[in-house]
Amino acid sequence: MNYPYQIKSIEEYQEHYKQSIEQPEKFWAEIANHFVWKKKWENVLSWDFKTPSVKWFEGGKLNITENCLDRHLAKNADVPAILWESNNPKEDNLSLTYQELYDKVNQFANVLKNNGVQKGDRVCIYMGMIPELAIATLACARIGAIHSVIFGGFSAQAIADRLEDAQSEFIITCDGAFRGPKDIPLKNVVDDALIRNQTVKKVIVYLRTHTPVSMLKGRDVWWSDEMDKVVEQGQQYCEPEAMDAEDILFILYTSGSTGKPKGVVHTTAGYMVWTNYTFVNVFQYQPGQVHFCTADIGWITGHSYIVYGPLSAGATTLMFEGIPTWPDAGRFWEIVQKYKVDILYTAPTAIRSLMGFGLDTINDKDLSSLKVLGSVGEPINEEAWHWYNKHIGKENCPVVDTWWQTETGGIMISNLANVTPGIPSYATLPLPGVQPCLVDDSGNEIQGNDVSGNLCIKFPWPGMIRTTYGDHERCRQTYFSVYDNKYFTGDGCYRDETGNYRITGRVDDVLNVSGHRIGTAEVENAINMHTGVIESAVVGYPHDIKGQGIYAYVIFDNTHGDAELTKKDIIQTVSRVIGPIAKPDKIQFVPGLPKTRSGKIMRRILRKIAEGDTSNLGDTSTLLDPSLVDVIKEGAF
Ligand code: WT7
Repeated sequence: MNYPYQIKSIEEYQEHYKQSIEQPEKFWAEIANHFVWKKKWENVLSWDFKTPSVKWFEGGKLNITENCLDRHLAKNADVPAILWESNNPKEDNLSLTYQELYDKVNQFANVLKNNGVQKGDRVCIYMGMIPELAIATLACARIGAIHSVIFGGFSAQAIADRLEDAQSEFIITCDGAFRGPKDIPLKNVVDDALIRNQTVKKVIVYLRTHTPVSMLKGRDVWWSDEMDKVVEQGQQYCEPEAMDAEDILFILYTSGSTGKPKGVVHTTAGYMVWTNYTFVNVFQYQPGQVHFCTADIGWITGHSYIVYGPLSAGATTLMFEGIPTWPDAGRFWEIVQKYKVDILYTAPTAIRSLMGFGLDTINDKDLSSLKVLGSVGEPINEEAWHWYNKHIGKENCPVVDTWWQTETGGIMISNLANVTPGIPSYATLPLPGVQPCLVDDSGNEIQGNDVSGNLCIKFPWPGMIRTTYGDHERCRQTYFSVYDNKYFTGDGCYRDETGNYRITGRVDDVLNVSGHRIGTAEVENAINMHTGVIESAVVGYPHDIKGQGIYAYVIFDNTHGDAELTKKDIIQTVSRVIGPIAKPDKIQFVPGLPKTRSGKIMRRILRKIAEGDTSNLGDTSTLLDPSLVDVIKEGAF
């Protein structure tokens, strides 16, 4: 494939950016023309941020899998689509060409149909990082079913909540997943999630770990049996469903300021165009290159830059089942060497963790295939940026610092590899079509340079969130009502003298722990479920590797027993309710929480104490009981 819309110079970037602002409809129509449509659109864009209502390519009909698979067969059937590296470095890895992936997706799409899945149905996918996970998502898209992938680290309760919210009747899972030295019993977790569930009709189980599982008659079926039937019956081809441009492609749950995760909805055409355009431009992908995104498909990064972006571009995408530090900290570098990886896209938390293991596991590997390095998920500190640039890129690979969110569908602010310059700890410049602005607390746009404010986007882009599933009002309130006529990101941001953007972190009650988004309210709800707990308040604090750690202040009814044991029990409770990723790093028992007279917890004070910065706690005179602050300070870590 060639990419006529791939930007090749700074001048071209400036020109394209200008066009995208002055004539957005013309700009995106030209790009959308390079995709396969069953019917062309009638209207490029209609929008109203008040409601909100955003429609791209309305009237158009297409199937995203025709763009990710069918269209590559004529010339690139034998090009590897997915390269897969097992958790176990000694186990045979696997490669699927575009033809092979196409065949599997068609067959599995027929499996879904045979099991009663119809267009518009929500299918929950809870699997490890194996090629079948990508196949399952694409098969859903092929028949117009809406996938909702749940990260394999979430608990049964978290699955149950998401099943309920999306009213899913179908689940695709595995017996288990390998992650480093662990074997995670996914099917058992699903079974726990289904104990009180009334809506799920079918569970399709892929055999991966040979973990004992219980298969319920009439409900649970094996992936391989169903695939065999399809092949026996000659159902090799599945006609791709003609989807409206604005039909839902998938739901992906993410955390916000309230206790309940929200189902971010992305639709078909806009998301496809956006992930493809950003993939091709940010990483400057060239045909034949190997793209290695280390994220899990359970997060948006995996959706956009393992599956849809690369495959729609006919690229070779590398999937890795394991973790960066097992069997040793050289795992990523070994994979880079083995597959001659060209583009490596990972998270600052992984970089910081690997920095701690020294250079021995790096310097014995050949990393000379690398051309572009990417960073995503959280602000990258300068030290990590320089280490990545020097020891992995050998000062020969541009580092693209890509800022975006689950809600934005794809990369929004980033340098373009070898096209626009990178600056350590800066995401730098907006992609064409992205109109960022900084807004002060009263909602006024801050003009000029060398200014800081709340980051908003003031014009629609094709990949943006359309709604939160089942609750449109929540979408309006969260993103479009804070500032008039703008999408609010929840991030703080600095624009320097030359107009480059530097993201400074969340300004709401959302934590970013190891690049995973976790709402403080969610963790508090989980902690409060523990029997000895009366009330709790959770804040983030700087953590060397995770970026942010979770600090919980807990009012504990000590008639219930031993304090240290209770702390462990609380951690166990959070792990049960949400998943191990949300476990508090520190728990401090406190006699009370610093509240204002109106009952609002003063988190600012708790944050400062957690950070260890108690020299100036600011004005505490509005507190109901200011003396409490000293007690909490004394008991702090
Ligand atoms: C939040 C979104 C983007 C996909 C993975 C995370 C933070 C993300 C950067 C970056 C600084 C970043 C923001 C954002 N973030 N990328 N390059 N520099 N901060 O998606 O879970 O939706 O989290 O991650 O705070 O709001 P997500």
